[in-house]
Parts: sequence; C-alpha cells; structure tokens
Amino acid sequence: MTGADADGRVAARAVGVSRVYGEGEAQVRALDGLSVEFPEGRFTAVMGPSGSGKSTLMHCLAGLDRVTSGEVWIGGTKLGDLSERQLTLLRREQVGFIFQAYNLLPTLTAAENIGLPLAIAGKKPEPAWYDRVIDAVGLRPRLGHRPTGSPTTRACRSGTRRSTRRTRPARSTGCWRCSTSCWHSPW
Ligand SMILES: Nc1ncnc2c1ncn2[C@@H]1O[C@H](COP(=O)(O)OP(=O)(O)O)[C@@H](O)[C@H]1O
Ligand SMILES: [Mg+2]
Repeated sequence: MTGADADGRVAARAVGVSRVYGEGEAQVRALDGLSVEFPEGRFTAVMGPSGSGKSTLMHCLAGLDRVTSGEVWIGGTKLGDLSERQLTLLRREQVGFIFQAYNLLPTLTAAENIGLPLAIAGKKPEPAWYDRVIDAVGLRPRLGHRPTGSPTTRACRSGTRRSTRRTRPARSTGCWRCSTSCWHSPW
C-alpha cells in the first residue's frame, strides 16, 4: 500500500514489519511482514477483526512498542536507530496518541491534562492554536473539571485535545476514540 500525498510526504511508514509476542507454544505473530504507508494530511482508518493486529500496528507506528523485525519510520526518522530517550523525545514532539482508555490523569483538570506533555517539555501552547482546538472539540466549559467520572465523550475530547496539545502537529495522530484504529492529522 502506498500512501504518500501529492508531495510524497509520508507521516509514518512500516517496512516489512513483524511483531511477535511470547515464545514457544504461546508465541503470537501479531504482525507478519507488513509494509504500509500513511500520508500526511489525511485520515486513514485501519479496520479488521479483533486480534488482527490493529493495536499492535498503532503501538509500533507511534514508537510505543518496538518491532521484532523490519523498520518503522516517522517522517524521515527510522525508529530502530533511536535510543529510548530519543524515542521519548520524538513521541513528545511529533506523535499525538489517543489511547483507547484515554489515560488521562484523574487528579488533574482537563486543562492541566491537555497542557501536561507541553509542560514536561518546558513549553507553552501557542495561544491561537490552543483556542482553536479547544473550541473545535467543545471543551471550553469543562477546562476546569477533572476527567474522573466524565462521560466517555468528554474524556475522549480531552484525550483528543491532549494529543494535539502542542503547536501545530508535525505528524499524524493515532486515534482509537471510536474503538477502531485510525491514523490521521487531526486538524
Ligand atoms: N502484550 C501481548 N502479549 C501477547 N500477545 C499479545 C499482546 N498484545 C497483543 N497480543 C496478541 O496479538 C494479536 C493482535 O492483538 P492486537 O494488536 O491487540 O489486535 P487488535 O487491536 O486488532 O484487536 C492477538 O492475538 C493478541 O492476543
Ligand atoms: Mg485493538
């Protein structure tokens, strides 16, 4: 599958990727020689039956998990060449990830959850971009509330907003907000 846009820019790419869990009789080959490209600036849905490897693919493409063999690229960076620290910095700067369970911190408000990755990086959001994304997901009235007990849709919005918390995202975002796996540039 080739996914480059008209300018040939690819947000993420897997080349001959395999991911094997476990050993011996318990071994599971979740990905088996997969090659796929995801273009910048597009929404892409990855669909398949439960257990077909969608989550594994998202984790590997986002640099949250290492592949057993093959190569994963985010933009022009080959993830296999990076140390854990370099991978952490790349995820912080270039990847927005909406976890299926959101992974919001219950002791922080929505605004604090949104700002957390930037705060860790010692940065502040670009005000116009922050406002634009907050309003796009309708979260402004809830910015001071904590996510605990929030309806699913509201938690999802905070997760979505957090995944786009920085200045304009450079790369696409892995998204599971609808219980399916997709890869897109959010705004
Ligand atoms: N951490 C893990 N340890 C062992 N097996 C796993 C692990 N994660 C996923 N698997 C297995 O890998 C296969 C693909 O899983 P997954 O990527 O979660 O699929 P999907 O998201 O499409 O439902 C399944 O057989 C699953 O049981
Ligand atoms: Mg899954």
